Amino acid sequence: MKIQIINGPNLNLLGKREPEVYGNEPFETFFQKLKSTFPLAELHYFQSNVEGEIINQLHAVGFTFDGIILNAGAYTHTSVAIHDAIGSIKSPVIEVHISNVFAREEYRHKSLITSKCKGLITGLGLDGYALAIHYFSTLHKS
Ligand code: DQA
Repeated sequence: MKIQIINGPNLNLLGKREPEVYGNEPFETFFQKLKSTFPLAELHYFQSNVEGEIINQLHAVGFTFDGIILNAGAYTHTSVAIHDAIGSIKSPVIEVHISNVFAREEYRHKSLITSKCKGLITGLGLDGYALAIHYFSTLHKS
């Protein structure tokens, strides 16, 4: 089972960025834990602060991978292009947010990408990524 995790803008600063909102752990150390929790999954990690690079990565894996976990960061709330990219590929995409976007500023309540995603996990911290992998593994077994 091939799973691509894509993190968008500013998520390279996890661990340093607003720890009261996003926690203290850099994604790289969490990613090592994910790999040991899901030894049978082939996990790939990509992060970019650039909208077009996120779209290119969706295109690169979106016809062959079993699932994509996408935290598009602030592009979630603005990007018609990422909405269209998710709609253009075959692999199911789960939208993940570390914080509960609905408990925050009103401009974070609107996501332009959810309608093209299989589902949405928000507010469960980094565990949201593990829950999404768990979901893809149950799909893969059936
Ligand atoms: C985020 C929520 C977004 O509103 C914000 O712009 C982010 C991170 C989250 O994971 O909680 O960069 O996607």
